Amino acid sequence: MMQRVLVTAGAAGIGLATARCFATAGAKVHVADIDADALSHVAAQHESITGTHADISKPGDVARIFEDIERDLGGLDVLVNNAGISGPTSPVAEFDLAAWQTVLDVNLTGTMMVTQRAIPLLIQSAQASIVIMSSLAGRFGYANRSVYATTKWGLVGFAKTLALELGEHGITCNTIHPGAVEGERIRHVFEGRMKLSGRSMEEERALGMQNQSIKRFTDPGDIAELIRFLAGPHARTISGQSFPIDGDSKAAQ
Ligand SMILES: NC(=O)c1ccc[n+]([C@@H]2O[C@H](COP(=O)([O-])OP(=O)(O)OC[C@H]3O[C@@H](n4cnc5c(N)ncnc54)[C@H](O)[C@@H]3O)[C@@H](O)[C@H]2O)c1
Repeated sequence: MMQRVLVTAGAAGIGLATARCFATAGAKVHVADIDADALSHVAAQHESITGTHADISKPGDVARIFEDIERDLGGLDVLVNNAGISGPTSPVAEFDLAAWQTVLDVNLTGTMMVTQRAIPLLIQSAQASIVIMSSLAGRFGYANRSVYATTKWGLVGFAKTLALELGEHGITCNTIHPGAVEGERIRHVFEGRMKLSGRSMEEERALGMQNQSIKRFTDPGDIAELIRFLAGPHARTISGQSFPIDGDSKAAQ
């Protein structure tokens, strides 16, 4: 069976690693992303990956994603709700309301709108799965990152509800909870901390991992393989569950 897969925010980071992972395994993949340049780069590089330029928080854009999917894939077996933004770093007492709302619009309402459109297609599929990208911040409190934590916990409730509603169709729904992921984003975080602290990159990395049992950051390709397993034939009874992939982290920091 050739899987038909939608990955939101699939033009960079974990989403791109996931799109590549499925494409390499023979799937037809569609990615939706707000970054037009990154999107055309991905489509040019991979024959089996198509794309829609879209902001998942806009209903009209979400409708276009599914027009393109009907045309390019002719159906859907796997929905990877990966898109998520982090919002400002600020204590709740001073949190900017407009920024709070923007993060809710993308992380929660956007994910809901994409899923709502996907459900009729997934019901038609012989083996359908939804995987939702939560975070370490969807397992612990996260000081100064309240809206991010609130939405990442909210997605767990959304996934567990979907698992109940869609179970009768054999559709599974699970959340993934990455911790710190290897890549540019984490490098920028540590460069910022180095400037403030005067510590070396090695020292900052060691501090960044002090709450982990396994002292390494997660490769986006490993997250992609976990998603592919959950969407695969050996995971048909795994639903409504949360999967940390974070070196056994004890806190969000
Ligand atoms: N990187 C990490 O350390 C980490 C850890 C835990 C969870 N996550 C979660 O994983 C997901 C992907 O994170 P990442 O670090 O790979 O992302 P990223 O910041 O590298 O961005 C990935 C893509 O998202 C796109 N995007 C942003 N807003 C969008 C929107 N409204 N509509 C469509 N596309 C949009 C960007 O254009 C970009 O191409 C997010 O949900 C994030 O919260 C990331």
